[in-house]
Amino acid sequence: MAHATAPAKLILCGEHAVVYGQPAIAVPLADLRASATVERGRPGVGLRLRAPDLGEIWDAGADEATPLSELARATADRLGLAGDLEITLRSDIPIASGMGSGAAIGTALVRALAAFAGRELAPAEVAAMVYESERGYHGTPSGIDNTVVAYERAIWYVRGEPPAIEPLRVAEPMRLVIGDTGVRSATRLPVAAVRERYDADPAAFEALFAAVGDVATRARAALAAAELILLGALLDENQALLEQIGVSSPELARLVAAARGAGALGAKLSGAGWGGVMLALVADGTAERVADALRAAGAARVLATTVAEG
Ligand code: MEV
Repeated sequence: MAHATAPAKLILCGEHAVVYGQPAIAVPLADLRASATVERGRPGVGLRLRAPDLGEIWDAGADEATPLSELARATADRLGLAGDLEITLRSDIPIASGMGSGAAIGTALVRALAAFAGRELAPAEVAAMVYESERGYHGTPSGIDNTVVAYERAIWYVRGEPPAIEPLRVAEPMRLVIGDTGVRSATRLPVAAVRERYDADPAAFEALFAAVGDVATRARAALAAAELILLGALLDENQALLEQIGVSSPELARLVAAARGAGALGAKLSGAGWGGVMLALVADGTAERVADALRAAGAARVLATTVAEG
């Protein structure tokens, strides 16, 4: 039997623009994880995926192949794993919430299969394999989700062949409070809507994306210099741009406003938007007040995390 896990992720800044080649910053959420267990299955079972948390059973050989079952099949083939295998997937990460649950489940799956085969795969290899399943779910993913989850460290990311991936310098631990709107929104929907708007007015959207990329560049410098007040202002700027891009929502805007009102240094939606989560950067001592304000403003769930280097 083999077991492996993978973390959730948050995009600190640069979502959507990253699909169009702008830089973005993402961080892993070590305390919120997906897991996979691989064991020998009953004879004849083939490659079987169970996801009791998600209420689904996938059969990797069946007609209704999903991107995850295809990922399991491709990974098993690549590792030379033959025979009957039973894979159980679990996740504490809310689905369609902007926290990368798909990438985390896929990464846990690949890691567990590798462990079962007695192999260790480099993060870049895992990320590349999971990217294929992300494509199945999202259409045109930038690759940032599978990358930050597989590397499991704060990264600076620029899409490309190959992508530019740099570990992020975080001079001082950064405290984030995360508010979940409770509204589930599949990543591909806002991503497709942004694509339509982009196609309708490329010049305007190129300018918006460039402005987001500039925010990410300045945020990287602020993180490296431990300038948290500046970083907070940059998160607010990013939120304003995301509103113009059209991916915020009344629920997200309400939580962002509540966090700012309770003294957060800055706040924005995180991930694809229209639902899912927002994040607030907080100074020491204000996390509880911001968390209370998010609950009072209707957050379905509130989490706190600290992001440090490495
Ligand atoms: C989703 O976590 C982030 C988006 O930028 C999509 C992507 O990068 O593939 C919205």
